[in-house]
Parts: sequence; C-alpha cells; structure tokens
Amino acid sequence: PTDNLQMEGSSNLKRENCRAKGGSPGFKVAILGAAGGIGQPLAMLMKMNPLVSVLHLYDVVNTPGVTADISHMDTGAVVRGFLGQQQLGDALTGMDLVIIPAGVPRKPGMTRDDLFNINAGIVRTLCEGISKCCPKAIVNLISNPVNSTVPIAAEVFKNANTYDPRLLLGVTMLDVVRANTFVAEVLGLDPRDVDVPVVGGHAGVTILPLLSQVKPPCSFTQEETEYLTSRIQNGGTEVVEAKAGAGSATLSMAYAAVKFADACLHALRGDAGVVQCAFVSSQVTELPFFASRVRLGRNGVEEIYPLGPLNEYERVGLEKAKKELAGSIEKGVSFIRK
Ligand code: NAI
Repeated sequence: PTDNLQMEGSSNLKRENCRAKGGSPGFKVAILGAAGGIGQPLAMLMKMNPLVSVLHLYDVVNTPGVTADISHMDTGAVVRGFLGQQQLGDALTGMDLVIIPAGVPRKPGMTRDDLFNINAGIVRTLCEGISKCCPKAIVNLISNPVNSTVPIAAEVFKNANTYDPRLLLGVTMLDVVRANTFVAEVLGLDPRDVDVPVVGGHAGVTILPLLSQVKPPCSFTQEETEYLTSRIQNGGTEVVEAKAGAGSATLSMAYAAVKFADACLHALRGDAGVVQCAFVSSQVTELPFFASRVRLGRNGVEEIYPLGPLNEYERVGLEKAKKELAGSIEKGVSFIRK
C-alpha cells in the first residue's frame, strides 16, 4: 500500500505539473503598469503563483527588459511582454484577471487626490481596452486615487455596456496589511494571527480600521485606538516621506496586491469562504461605492457584508469618511460624464 500511495502521489504531481504547463486549471493574468515600482515586484510574485498559467506584462515603457528578466524564473507561468498602446488589446485578450498599478505615485507633500489629473486619464484608457478585449475579467484597480479611479472605471464600463459591478474591485488590501502589522505590534502578536477589517476608502480619513472587530478579540485604550487609527490612515504618507521623493509604497503594495489577486484566483477556481476587504459598488452605506468585507466567488464579488456593530469612535470616523468619499466618488464620475 505504501508503494501504491507513493505512485499515486507522484503521478498526481506529474499531472499537476502538466496542467500548470498546459495552462489549465491556471488562470491568465495581465498586469498593466508592469514596469513600475509596484509592477515589477508584483510581476515577480505573480510569476511565482501556481494558479497563474499565463502572465501578460503591459506598460508604456521598459516591458521588454522586465519580461525577459521575469521569464527566466523556473516557475509554471508563461510570460509575455507588451509595449505601448497599440499592444494593449493583445495584452488584454483572453485574460481572467487584470491588475492595474499604472500611473504616477505620490511625492512628499502630495495627497492621493493630487494624482487625479494624470491617473484618471490613464485608468480611462486602460478600462476602455478592458471593455473591448476582456469584459468578463476581474479587475483589481490599484492606481490612485482609488476612491475616484474605481468610479471612473465603472463609468467607462457603463458607457461600453460591459459594466458588471461584481468584477470591479478597488484594492485596499495594503491598508489591511498595515493594520494587521501595526495592531500585532501593539498586541505583541504575530501579524499572521491578526485580522483587522478596514472599511471606507483608500485615502486619509476614508481609511477606517474597525479596531472593535479585530480578531483575535481584544481591546485597546483610547490612546492606543487613536495611535493605531492615525498610523493606519497615514501609513502611505510614512513611506512617501521616508522615500523622500523616490515614490510611494511599492514592495509592501506588491505583496498586498498579490495577496488580494491570489484571493481572487482562489475564488475563480471555486474555493469557498474567500473573504477580503475591497472598495466596490456597494449598498452598505448610502454611497455608491464603499470598502468593506466582501465574499469572492466565481463571479467576482458574491456577497457584501454589513459593517457590523461600530463603537462611538468608529461611528464618528465613519461620518468623516463618508463625507470625503462622497466628493471623491463624484469627482471620478463627473470626469467621465462631463
Ligand atoms: P511608478 O511610477 O513606479 O510606476 C507606474 C508605471 O505605470 C510606470 O512603469 C509607467 O510607465 C506606467 N504607466 C504610465 N502610464 C501608463 C499607461 N497609460 N499605461 C500603462 N502603464 C502606464 O508608480 P508606482 O509606485 O508603481 O505606483 C503606481 C500607482 O499605484 C500610483 O498611482 C500609486 O499612487 C498607486 N498606489 C496604490 C496603492 C494602493 O494601496 N491602492 C499603494 C501604493 C501605490
């Protein structure tokens, strides 16, 4: 029986290797902005993901070099590079998941909203390509300001009659990753054992960590609550200032993007119980978009969870978040409608 088991095991392994090579059950993933600070480590980590069979790297600069480099990694995914807008269609055709970290990052003294003028146009162009070439793909939108770029993407898809709100996800995973890290530090726990829901949006006061709902259950003093909330809301600025003009978070963002993309791929594969925070079309509040915990499945967002019981501090934070979010959402919508 031991021999049989071993044989069974090794033939399973062979089959899996074959399937990975043959492209099934692996998924086809495109990264738009793949040569950037986030794009490069993100491409490397996605090349290491066993659920990926084909990886398309698109940018307006430098993709030949990044692609040649990444393609030498001895993992299953086949890598192809695409350079410039005339190759956008080929980069997108047939994709199951499109991850977008294209656009300029912040410099010290800038808010995410200061990036609007440049990044809004980039996101519009890329989303027009998605509606033409892979309208059924799940989209993970990283480009800032996420609070406005997600509404922009939705408007582009609506204009093209391809809008499926379940497939459009603004990536707020880095806020969750930071929250887990900072909360674990205060509690003296391993960050892998901590889960902090972060709701609202992805900028300043719109980033609302729900410290009353941290797992494992715990409590914080008022001072700890204020310190943690402020550090989580300003985590991005902490990195922007430390990099002193050389950009914003790229390595932790690539990690967070892969964590989120991997959850999407597991959901696409049919795994049950995949739950993450994301900025999505939502009825959790009166706003048309809101970040909260969502359950992912084969069709993208399959369930959006309510916020749950909030304490007084969080209720006040929620009102502030909603006020700012409303303006950012409106700004994105009117960029396309005007
Ligand atoms: P980067 O400047 O290093 O890279 C951006 C890449 O986008 C460049 O390679 C550039 O050539 C490319 N690009 C520009 N226009 C393009 C177009 N039309 N089509 C395709 N690619 C294009 O910037 P970085 O640091 O990688 O940041 C990218 C974006 O991610 C920024 O908007 C930044 O604010 C955002 N970000 C979002 C976070 C989040 O939590 N959602 C966290 C950190 C950054």
